[in-house]
Amino acid sequence: MSTMTINGRLTPLPADPEALLVDVIRDALNLTGTKLVGGAGVCGACTVLVDGAPVVSCLMPARAVADKSVTTVEGIGAGKLHPVQNAFMAHDALQCGFCTPGFIVEAAAFHDRWRKAKGTATPSREEIGAALSGHLCRCGAYDGIFRAVAEACAGHFDGKARRSRCSATTAWCAMSASPSRR
Ligand code: FES
Repeated sequence: MSTMTINGRLTPLPADPEALLVDVIRDALNLTGTKLVGGAGVCGACTVLVDGAPVVSCLMPARAVADKSVTTVEGIGAGKLHPVQNAFMAHDALQCGFCTPGFIVEAAAFHDRWRKAKGTATPSREEIGAALSGHLCRCGAYDGIFRAVAEACAGHFDGKARRSRCSATTAWCAMSASPSRR
C-alpha cells in the first residue's frame, strides 16, 4: 500500500490509479480548505505543497505523491499562524475568501524562499506578481494581497499573534474549515 505524509500524518493513498490528489484531500481526508474551482490547472485554488513546492492538486494523480510530503492550507501555520496569514488578515487581502487558501499556500512558499535568499528585503510588485501569477481572485482583492505579501516578506508580521477579532479571520477560517462552505 502506498502512503503519503499529509500535514505531518502518514496517510494511505487510494488504490485507484485515476484518483486525483484534490479529491483525496477534500473527499477522503475532509481537508476542505483546499478548494476545487476550475479543475483545469489555471485558477490556483487547489494549490498544495508537495515536498515544499506548490502544485495544483486538481491535475496531480494521487499516486504521484507516494512517499512524499503534502502540506495543505490546514498545515500552514498549524501551530502558530504563518506571517503571510497574519498579513492577509491585517490587510483584508480577500473578499469572498474562496481563492484565499490557494493564495496563502503559494504566498507562504514564496515568503519562505524569499526570506532564505533575501532576508527582510521587500519584494517588488513585479516579483510578487510573478510568484502568484497562477492564482486568480475574481473579487479583485489583489491590492491587499500585494501589500500583505510584501510586508510579510519584509518581516513586518514576524512573531505576530493571531488576531481573533478580525472579520477576515472569521471569513478565512470559515472557508477553510466549515463543511457547509466546501
Ligand atoms: S481548481 Fe485546480 S487550478 Fe483551479
